[in-house]
Amino acid sequence: MNNEKLQRAAQAVLDQNWNGKFTKPAPSLYPHQWNWDAGFIAIGNAYHNFDRAMAEMRHLFRAQWNTGMVPQIVFGDDPQARYFPGPDFWQGSRSAHAPQGVETSGITMPPVHGFVLWRMYEAAADKAVAKAFLKEMYPKVLALHRYLYDYRDPEEEGLVYIRHPWEGGTDNSPIWDRALSRIVVDPSQLPPYERKDLQNPKAAEHRPTQEDYDRYVYLVDLFRQHDYDDQKIYKDCPFLIQDPLFNGVLAWSNEALIQIGSLIGADIAEPMQWHELTVWSMNEKLWDEERGIYNAYDLSAGEVIPVHTSSGLIPLCGEVPTQEQAEVMLRTLESDDFGGKDPNILLCPTYSLQAKDLNYKKYWRGPVWINLNWLLYHGLVRYDMTQMADKIRQHSLELITTHGFYEYFDPRRSASGEIGCGTDQFSWSAALCLDFLQGETSG
Ligand code: SER
Repeated sequence: MNNEKLQRAAQAVLDQNWNGKFTKPAPSLYPHQWNWDAGFIAIGNAYHNFDRAMAEMRHLFRAQWNTGMVPQIVFGDDPQARYFPGPDFWQGSRSAHAPQGVETSGITMPPVHGFVLWRMYEAAADKAVAKAFLKEMYPKVLALHRYLYDYRDPEEEGLVYIRHPWEGGTDNSPIWDRALSRIVVDPSQLPPYERKDLQNPKAAEHRPTQEDYDRYVYLVDLFRQHDYDDQKIYKDCPFLIQDPLFNGVLAWSNEALIQIGSLIGADIAEPMQWHELTVWSMNEKLWDEERGIYNAYDLSAGEVIPVHTSSGLIPLCGEVPTQEQAEVMLRTLESDDFGGKDPNILLCPTYSLQAKDLNYKKYWRGPVWINLNWLLYHGLVRYDMTQMADKIRQHSLELITTHGFYEYFDPRRSASGEIGCGTDQFSWSAALCLDFLQGETSG
């Protein structure tokens, strides 16, 4: 497929998943608006339909809680939508901080919005419109970051914790295994629930397990019982993790806030302080020199989680590592863990290829995801590692061209069975394909 055809196909996916108010991440598996999906989708639409890109972001931020938190899911009103957990299960209105007139979940997701807005501005044909949009959105994104530093960084380290795997965006990542295994769940004590994500038998195999879901539900139930009060949850929650992906993305968005604030003449003192502290702390606390990657940290157990996932490479995008550290990370990417030099591997697997429990087709436990590739690509470009950056871009486009706009992909060229996994017609695979097609190598 030539680039023009691919571009038209990607645009068609975004058009088809647009419901008049927001873009569904996928036609049936994900029928509502998801937080970081909306951000990646807005980047793609910035090239295709700028009004829609703005509408996407406005729809998301209209659901911002008055603490500043931007929810992981904003529920749409399609009566046909089948998704668990829905608004009845979340019961967001238990919190006095939840927005009026819109139903949301009660947790957040990686804060991509700062760099999404900056990327939209870079892509915009009409810079005046884009600049006015930045002015409108800047205080909202600032309020989100303020929430993260005020409520999710109790030791004021500059490192934000997540309290649910869904907040990390990488639901069943091996990073969470140990922390989740400590949560002893008696299924008969859980609120009754029915998963809706297993209807497509092909996708079902690639989805998280029942044990995972029991723990996801246990945590949501705990939050409900605490009426989504951040301080109370912090005291009781057995899952509090400082994730290198979440904090790496936060660092990039802090930087983008500094750029945006400078452009629109706003006060940038806060994002400058946040940025400096987060970068410093990530290097102090999460950097693993020996393994050449950033770790996660389990605040509940008070222990480092040695990360063998690509999440530990994501801090490149926020220019967290020094050039020397980045060189070490490049070697990690080239090693047998991630297969950067292996002709059989399409980059970048999400879990070490050497891990005993690697699963090439299971959600966040091995497959390639286009959004993480996009973050890695931009990280590598920032350190002038253009050869590896281009490889990641090429591999992303090859996967999409050969197999379609899947949610995630088996990284092996020699793989048998399906290479495209999860759902087809996945919006961010299409949106970031549009950005990759710009083909530039500037940060
Ligand atoms: N990714 C999740 C799901 O699969 C929720 O954020 O439902």
